[in-house]
Amino acid sequence: MHRIYVHPLPVRIWHWLNAIGFIAMILTGFQIRYVGMLDVIPFRTAVRVHNWIGFALIANYFIWLGFYATSPQIRCYLPELNPKKFFSGSVRQMRYYCYGMFKGDPNPHQISIYNKFNPMQAMLYQLVMVVLVPVLSYTGVLLWDAQRFSAQVNFFGGVRVVDTVHVLIFIFFVAYILVHPYLGTLGASRTGQYKAMITGYEEVEDAGEAAKSGDAPPGLP
Ligand code: HEM
Repeated sequence: MHRIYVHPLPVRIWHWLNAIGFIAMILTGFQIRYVGMLDVIPFRTAVRVHNWIGFALIANYFIWLGFYATSPQIRCYLPELNPKKFFSGSVRQMRYYCYGMFKGDPNPHQISIYNKFNPMQAMLYQLVMVVLVPVLSYTGVLLWDAQRFSAQVNFFGGVRVVDTVHVLIFIFFVAYILVHPYLGTLGASRTGQYKAMITGYEEVEDAGEAAKSGDAPPGLP
């Protein structure tokens, strides 16, 4: 076993603030959406907390964006443009998740600093960070003051359309917050990926040249 520096400090700070914030947003989101059926906290308090944390999460997103926009680690988020390579890598990874890992097969993905995600993780995280979080945030800001942003709200078809998009992405994240922590336990060990998101370092099996790496390279915080 050896360890690889996969998550620099800004990513770890962003990630855990984001995780706590999203849980709060989901809980207050339920209260706002199902007022009358759910009465855990007053509606107005839920709206106020939802708005404040929403703006804090938008600010926090810029930690993630600022880091990757200026780091060579951005390669982890670049899409695989060779469809054959992407498809075969995804099928191999899917096969591992569906039965390989239950038989004790090694994970087909070899982690490195600039290739820390397997093809399925990479696709999911691109979708989450480049599309869903920005659209969720943008529709949230429009709904926060639909009067002030009426021109943009009307451009997209009115409050109902903007609200529907916001709620559909909300539903996606309710599922995500249940599945993503489980997928985080499917690394080389149950807790390996969690430790990596806390310390920055992930322990990986020795497997030839591809895995040879080690401490943080110069330039990564
Ligand atoms: C209870 C909440 C959460 C837990 C326990 C959790 C756990 C983890 C763990 C263990 C990892 C490292 C494994 C990996 O890279 O796949 C990770 C990475 C990641 N998580 Fe989460 N997470 C949570 C919430 C969230 C939320 C709400 C989002 C997005 C909205 C999110 C987005 C990500 C992303 C994008 C990465 C990769 C980060 C990077 O290296 O650039 N997570 N998470």
